[in-house]
Formats: sequence, C-alpha cells, structure tokens
Amino acid sequence: MQLNQIKSKKRRVTPSDKHQLSTSQERCQIHKYLTLNHQNINKSQKYQILDQIGQGSYSTIFIVENKLHGGYYAMKKVLQDPKQINRELEIHMNMNHPHIAPLRDYYYSVENKVKYLHLVMDLYQGNLKNAIRVPLKRVAKQLFQALEYLESQHVMHRDLKPANILYQSGNIYLADFGSSKKMDGSKSLSYVCSRAYRAPELLFGQIFYNTKIDIWAAGCILAELELGKQLFFGQNTVDQIVEICKFLGTPNELEKAELGCQFQIPNLQAKKLNIYLQSIKKNQLQ
Ligand SMILES: Nc1ncnc2c1ncn2[C@@H]1O[C@H](COP(=O)(O)OP(=O)(O)OP(=O)(O)O)[C@@H](O)[C@H]1O
Ligand SMILES: [Mg+2]
Repeated sequence: MQLNQIKSKKRRVTPSDKHQLSTSQERCQIHKYLTLNHQNINKSQKYQILDQIGQGSYSTIFIVENKLHGGYYAMKKVLQDPKQINRELEIHMNMNHPHIAPLRDYYYSVENKVKYLHLVMDLYQGNLKNAIRVPLKRVAKQLFQALEYLESQHVMHRDLKPANILYQSGNIYLADFGSSKKMDGSKSLSYVCSRAYRAPELLFGQIFYNTKIDIWAAGCILAELELGKQLFFGQNTVDQIVEICKFLGTPNELEKAELGCQFQIPNLQAKKLNIYLQSIKKNQLQ
C-alpha cells in the first residue's frame, strides 16, 4: 500500500503497512540507484581519457574522446570535498552565453571512497595566460559581454584571471566556475580571486560584495594583456593594497572607513594612467 493511499484512508499505519512502505520505498531507492549508476557507468565508458592538459588546485583537466558520438572534449575532474559547498555544477550548467564555455555533459564517479565530478566541455586551444598577440579591444568587448550576462544571472565569478579565460581564434570563453556564487544577500568569503586580481573591497576583508569584484579583475586582466605583466603585483595582502595605492592614491579617512580599512597604508598620491603604465613597463616604481 502506498503512502498517499494510507493518508487518503485516514487510518493509523499498521506494522504491516510500515513493512510494505519500507520495502516499496527501498525498491524505489534501489531503482533510482541503479538508474543513476547505470548512467554513470555509461558515461564513464563514453569518454576515453587521452591526455592531461591542465592541473588546478582541486581538479585535473583531460582531453577525452567521446566513444559514442565521436569528437574530442575537455573533461575537468573535480574532487568533491563534502566539507565544502560545491556550486560549480549548478552554476555552470545554467550558463548560456557565446563567450562562456558551455558545459556539454557531466557525471560523478567514486574512487577509493572519494567522490569526483566530471565536467565535459568543448576543447579550446589555450587561455589568456598563454595566448600571444590577442586582439585587445575584441577581447575586452567579449569579456564585458560575458560579465554583463553574469550580472543578469546574479552570478559572481570570483576567480577571474587569464588562466580561467579560454581563448581560441580571437575569441574568449569564460571558464572555471569553481569559486562562483549566486548573489543572494548572504555573507561571502573575502578570500576569493587570485591576489593580483582581487578587488580592494576583498583585500579589505569585506564579506558583502557584488559582481563589481569581477569588473576589477577584468580591468587588471586587460591591463596585463597590454603591459605583458601583472598590473598590481603585491607579495601579500597589505603589499597588494599599497601597489594599488601607488596608482590610485591612498584612500582618504572617509573612504578608508567605508572600505573597513584596518591597515596602515603610506600616504601615496594618485598618478596619471599613462605615467603609471610607463613606470610599470620600465619597472621604476618606488
Ligand atoms: N574546456 C577547456 N579547453 C581547454 N583547456 C581547458 C578547458 N578547461 C580548462 N582548461 C585548462 O585547464 C586549466 C585549469 O582549468 P580550471 O581553471 O577549470 O581548473 P581549476 O582546478 O579550477 O584551476 P585553478 O584552481 O588553477 O583555477 C585552465 O587554465 C585551462 O588551461
Ligand atoms: Mg582555474
């Protein structure tokens, strides 16, 4: 007898009902497990690993061949740490934009009791870290189009850097949604983004921020493409703030209070952009 039948009859559940219920629920669960596992078995057999092309902190990226339908793809195998919130799949699978690497397929696997998520994506030639002679204006336009889309989806990427922007034939494709988060008004970690691309509010430890942190990172990336080296390169958090102040000047007391600044920063004057960029190129900053 099913749960809704028991509920509709409005009578007490007898031990025999309980037995029937548990067995039918168990059967349902076994069916679900088998279906899921069957899918997984098929999918892990569907993709044959050919080569490793990347290594991240929690993931390995492979070139795979789709044995069923043909074609080569990139597969990111990501460790699923049960102690961490894994948002990557949910966010990436809902992305739909010409300058965001589309997610084509995914499945989970368990190896030695460790769970992995496998994300199958189109395979791109490289990324902005290793690309040479990129068309700057075109890349800038595409990057901001992708960021405008992220903003419309209320998603903060939170790890924009050249290596996370895939590049092929003059076009870019945002990737790596491993640190991304939907803006839901909740507190967020300030320790996100690689230091060179970390927005001042993050460096100052703010836990309420928004998609503007990605705009800051995008600016740093575009400047880096032009300069051939990182725009702001600090050895630690305070050093990074000082590097930024060498260009933008030290914030005044009111701005410091708004930013929640708790650091001692030397009093630095803002510089004109061209003078600052020239000095970076010549590496003459004091
Ligand atoms: N679809 C793809 N096509 C080609 N190369 C890719 C693709 N996806 C990722 N890569 C390569 O693998 C590298 C690592 O991928 P990704 O950034 O997604 O992993 P990660 O573990 O989050 O890395 P990290 O922690 O270093 O940011 C990328 O910088 C890129 O060079
Ligand atoms: Mg990455």
